[in-house]
Amino acid sequence: MRMVFFPGAAHRKSFRRTPNDGARRATGDAVLTTGVPEAIFQPFANLNRAHGFMSAIQKIKGFADMFGEDSRAFTRMESVARDIFTRYGFGEVRIPVLERTELFAKGIGEDTDVVGKEMYTFTDRGDRSLTLRPEATAGVLRACIEAGAVEPGKPSRLFAFGPMFRYERPQKGRMRQFHQIDAELLGSPEPQADVEVILMLRDYLEELGIGDLSFELNSLGCRECRPHYRAALTAYFESLDEEKLCEDCRRRMKTNPLRVLDCKVPGCKAMVEKAPAIADHLCAGCRDHFSAVLSLVSRAGLAYTLNPRLVRGLDYYQRTTFEVTSGAIGAQTAVAGGGRYDGLVQQLGGPDAPGVGFACGMERLALLMEKQEAPRPDFFLAVTDTREKSGAVDAAILLGHKLRLRGLSGECDYEPGSMKSRLRRAGKLNVKKCYIIGPEEFDAGKVTVKDMEEGGQLSLDIAAFD
Ligand code: HAM
Repeated sequence: MRMVFFPGAAHRKSFRRTPNDGARRATGDAVLTTGVPEAIFQPFANLNRAHGFMSAIQKIKGFADMFGEDSRAFTRMESVARDIFTRYGFGEVRIPVLERTELFAKGIGEDTDVVGKEMYTFTDRGDRSLTLRPEATAGVLRACIEAGAVEPGKPSRLFAFGPMFRYERPQKGRMRQFHQIDAELLGSPEPQADVEVILMLRDYLEELGIGDLSFELNSLGCRECRPHYRAALTAYFESLDEEKLCEDCRRRMKTNPLRVLDCKVPGCKAMVEKAPAIADHLCAGCRDHFSAVLSLVSRAGLAYTLNPRLVRGLDYYQRTTFEVTSGAIGAQTAVAGGGRYDGLVQQLGGPDAPGVGFACGMERLALLMEKQEAPRPDFFLAVTDTREKSGAVDAAILLGHKLRLRGLSGECDYEPGSMKSRLRRAGKLNVKKCYIIGPEEFDAGKVTVKDMEEGGQLSLDIAAFD
């Protein structure tokens, strides 16, 4: 059971998780990601009712707030990404969360679940159909094309963070608003580009301290060889009893038979066991490309599994696809996924530039990360001069300002109190030093600095901090 961090909360104990939380999580109601957010608002609602306050407005199902430890985990994921990705020559791009719907329809594919069932689409006041981005690749490419930043043969390396939106059934690790760290390398068709992107992902996950992950790789062929494979697959499915496939797969058989391969429904899984494998249908170019990727990945010491059923849920992939999975986070096992998407830039109106990239799901990574401790504050400025309007609080605020200008972190009292209560507060905040301004200190222009680690204390002139 984890205490919820909520600064200044007078009713801290009531923020513990209730026995109901498991049930709420299972139904996806007030979904949590790493465990904290839902615990906050439910007790608040109860508190508000108990005190006769107006009922608090609650967040949308499948969306989460983040405090304390969860927030720190996200900050760490972002700063480690900046560090590792910069070493690979990637620069950060910031793109809008809202795009024209046609970008995703064209880019991701009308027949995908993402476009067909999961997008948050609406008509704006100017009668335009807009969509909250369900992923970042299409938006990054749109931005680069618009800025003239894609040139075949001159790779651009970009990464982006941010919220994505998919109307899926919420559960552990699956949110309607979730966050991705996305990286795209545009302009190179070479297998070495795929490998660099995969190695960058591996380095990143290692630096975050996340182990026990499986790297799965596949090649989906290209515009030349995939149609032959598709035909072989369709013929195979037609030779079977169609009724044994789920309703979605009966439709997919006609629109995109490759998607049947990664259906999780047990009946469909059994049906695809003997399906033709794409590896047997790759053209010579795709075979050579994929074996160059595998050979270099092995030479870099990355253990991987070949997964001929790895087709990914977005239509733009060509050749290499990959996914990183974990068995430790429940049913939603994929923590990252990506691949090559030659042809997509052109399809979106840009030059004929190839590309390869990946995205990590930040909520899923957070489930695998070690607890992120709060940084320990340097000081707490305690005012124990309780004389009315003595000016000691003002002196503390001004001293706190000077300490922060020297690079120290900490907080000041606004309310004077007894030494006992102030030291208790300093202990709770786990500060390194407690600066005390009592009546004697204030009158003498001094501050007592108590070392909370070693136990000693000394008296200093406040003016010495100027
Ligand atoms: P994706 O596999 O759809 O790929 O998503 C990437 C990652 O986002 C997943 O592996 C998962 O960790 C996370 N994710 C997806 N949906 C959810 C959700 N509803 N809740 C929580 N996490 C989720 C893409 O989005 C591609 N754009 C990746 C890419 C970049 N390919 C090439 N470049």
